[in-house]
Amino acid sequence: MNFIFLGPPGAGKGTLAAQVAEEYGIPQISTGDIFRENIKNQTELGKKVKAILDSGGLVSDEVVLEIVEDRLKKDDCKNGFILDGFPRTIPQAEAFEKLGIDVKVVNFEVDNDLIIARLSNRRVCKNCKANYNVKFMPPKVEGKCDKCGGELFTREDDKLESITHRLEVYRKETEPLIEFYKKLGKITDIDSARDSSLVLVDFKKLFPKK
Ligand code: AP5
Ligand code: MG
Repeated sequence: MNFIFLGPPGAGKGTLAAQVAEEYGIPQISTGDIFRENIKNQTELGKKVKAILDSGGLVSDEVVLEIVEDRLKKDDCKNGFILDGFPRTIPQAEAFEKLGIDVKVVNFEVDNDLIIARLSNRRVCKNCKANYNVKFMPPKVEGKCDKCGGELFTREDDKLESITHRLEVYRKETEPLIEFYKKLGKITDIDSARDSSLVLVDFKKLFPKK
């Protein structure tokens, strides 16, 4: 099964994608993670997109599409994949449709106040990228990853002004995709304002493993 996880920043796309990837044995393809990895390694791409990510703007459709199309050609996508954070604009969605891949779109529903509480308390493992939240999903030992012991850090774009900008960009550029996929009959809503284990239970009921 192929999935697109659609929703505002902080909706829990990455958190659920990691759980589903493990349970269903399919890769989580996070465009945001790909960009952050390139920034960390100071690649040409990383240098090009750093300021955009820090401010919470969007990387150009052209750059994103090239990366996603390349990634989907890899062998591990043969039995399915989760696109976490792509598409994010109508041109990206139209370009993806042209690939003719059957996909289920999961729309994460959560309100603004919770988004801000989640993002401003998020911590991410430097090593394995696992997600934590000092308020809602704390690690067992402060500042350390439960899975690999790596150091936890705060994402550059989880500062309040960047969060506000990301939400504006989401409403303007990405929210219209809900209508786009509704018209194609591909979208399923999921209430992601609840505990992450309950969100996973819902997901498994909606999309039973084949
Ligand atoms: P990206 O990395 O995709 O960031 P985002 O969309 O802003 O989404 P987040 O990762 O912030 O939120 P999430 O929904 O994954 O939530 P999470 O699970 O972490 O993109 C970053 C940037 O890259 C973009 O701003 C853009 O510049 C660029 N980019 C990426 N894709 C692009 C594209 N297609 N086109 C153009 N540019 C692109 O959860 C958040 C927090 O809440 C965590 O702390 C977590 O522990 C906690 N939490 C999650 N679920 C729950 C729950 N159920 N209960 C309690 N706490 C929870
Ligand atoms: Mg994410």
